[in-house]
Amino acid sequence: VELRPFNTLNVSARARLFAEIHSVADLQQLLKAPHAPTEDMVVLGGGSNILFAADYSGLVLHMAIQGRTILKENSQHIWLQIGAGENWHQTVRYVVDRGWGGIENLSLIPGTVGAAPIQNIGAYGVELVDVFEELEAVDISTAEIRTFTKEECHFGYRDSIFKGALRGQYVISRVVLKLDKEPRLNTSYGAIRSELEQRGIEEPGIRDISDIVIDIRNRKLPNPETLGNAGSFFKNPVVPSETFAQLKKSFPKMPGYRVNEHHRKIPAGWLIEKAGWKGKVIGNTGTYRQQALVIVNHGGATAVEILELASDIQQSVSDKFGIELVPEVNIIE
Ligand code: EPU
Repeated sequence: VELRPFNTLNVSARARLFAEIHSVADLQQLLKAPHAPTEDMVVLGGGSNILFAADYSGLVLHMAIQGRTILKENSQHIWLQIGAGENWHQTVRYVVDRGWGGIENLSLIPGTVGAAPIQNIGAYGVELVDVFEELEAVDISTAEIRTFTKEECHFGYRDSIFKGALRGQYVISRVVLKLDKEPRLNTSYGAIRSELEQRGIEEPGIRDISDIVIDIRNRKLPNPETLGNAGSFFKNPVVPSETFAQLKKSFPKMPGYRVNEHHRKIPAGWLIEKAGWKGKVIGNTGTYRQQALVIVNHGGATAVEILELASDIQQSVSDKFGIELVPEVNIIE
């Protein structure tokens, strides 16, 4: 099967085996089948955070489990269970339409609900972990269903246990979010505050925040429908505060956000821009002109080209700043 339609970087690669999963029962049946290639399997949601480095000799599972169900509610909260295959942004709008707060800052993030916990998606001061209750997953080796609480997911910055210790061992089938009936807005991000001011909105609601986030993202990030990309290609590096202070001496304008008492997060986009890569076109690939952290496919780019560009960027950021950028996109060898 050709995987180009299934990844937003729009890169061509072939999968030897491909299956579309519409229910947990489907999935269990497939995993229990004799000779199921469970050792060599990758799960695909919206394909918005993945790069196939080469043809894939195993089985690609395309997650299509649908459904949104209210599990319970009280006067303050609502617990919404969502199928892993549901589109994330459509889910955000569904939730915003009903006046439930918590994920409006995560509007327009590409991909599916099932992929969201894997990298603990985040934007504009909110991360999935902030609204996460639990998830249901299927054990690839036994086909058994298991629930993971928030603590068990080991969420971190663009990280969870499903990228670490349990990588490749579970397929996420459903996610439960705990949403607020009386929303508390997060306007910690400067770009949101200045946009509210410009629009003269004094008492914003969750729909205002969602609309603003959509506008900001549309301005800064390329639409994968028209320009292939996988969002941020690298994570924002976190460095010890002393390292940051040292760097500040040579680069006084370097931005850095406080992570905790001892660490600062530096925007990778700034480092890449200062290393001279912003908006550069190299063959069929390059970085986006409005956001240097996004690698784009101008048409027909191969995985080899993209990985070469990524490694050239890493090299020059390392040479200039002594900082090693780590990919945020999942690279499947
Ligand atoms: N910047 C530059 N040049 C650039 C890009 C950024 O100088 O070309 C600097 C600016 O100082 C800017 C700062 O970087 O103020 C932050 O930029 P931006 O607000 O665009 O956010 P980011 O740190 O680059 C992160 C996430 C995004 C998320 C935004 C908004 C990561 C790796 N990326 O980007 O997530 O949408 O914040 O919250 O944490 C993604 O994960 O795919 C993604 C797009």
